[in-house]
Amino acid sequence: MSLRTLLHLAPHPNPAVDPAKSAALSWRIFDREDHSLNGEEDQHLRHLLRVSFPFEKAFSFRRYLKNPPEYRWFAVDPEGHIVAHVGVHIKTLGTALGELTVGGISEVCVKSDYRGRGILKELLGSVHPWLRARQIPFALLFGQPPIYRSSGYLQIYNPIQSTNGLARHWNPFCGKPMIKPLSDHTWPAGAIDLRGPSF
Ligand SMILES: CC(C)(COP(=O)(O)OP(=O)(O)OC[C@H]1O[C@@H](n2cnc3c(N)ncnc32)[C@H](O)[C@@H]1OP(=O)(O)O)[C@@H](O)C(=O)NCCC(=O)NCCS
Repeated sequence: MSLRTLLHLAPHPNPAVDPAKSAALSWRIFDREDHSLNGEEDQHLRHLLRVSFPFEKAFSFRRYLKNPPEYRWFAVDPEGHIVAHVGVHIKTLGTALGELTVGGISEVCVKSDYRGRGILKELLGSVHPWLRARQIPFALLFGQPPIYRSSGYLQIYNPIQSTNGLARHWNPFCGKPMIKPLSDHTWPAGAIDLRGPSF
């Protein structure tokens, strides 16, 4: 069952897209616990993940890269097909100041004909208040800075330990670590231990 639903009826113009097609596009956003997805939803999601990340073999047989995110945000078209996705892990990190819980953003993707309409920004704009309401002080992701800057993400330069430390650097699409402050907490200096693989 969806926990929250936002309905979008207004067209979202994009100069790069045929205006007639653009006007016809609409979507709604909702969040789900990962374990509640049924077989058909799993297939739709894996299809979107496969076409969005063709170099990641894992999506041929499962809907996550290393560990499944506990929560997922979706945009679906009026027929209920998934057109965008953001995974959210609730992660407790080891830092020089002690443990720190963050919302780990992963497997971000938007179906190609829906890109450039601000859907990712909308999805993140829905995730952030949800994390804030749970007193989670930061969102953390590994991504390309130009994509996330306008959603308030800042690049961090802490040394990052993970159980797949080297593998991250072999991936040509490997993103930069970025945080989104969700409270007045100060991001800690020093090494950050992901206590597991990157996401
Ligand atoms: C990256 C992706 C999720 C963007 O989704 P989207 O809905 O088109 O993004 P939005 O329209 O909300 O744009 C968000 C910001 O990203 C920027 N952006 C989007 N695609 C970009 C690209 N290919 N290169 C650089 N910046 C990009 C937008 O200009 C916008 O920034 P702005 O607010 O400063 O103008 C989508 O292109 C995608 O699924 N790509 C394939 C999978 C992928 O690369 N995922 C991200 C892994 S880090």
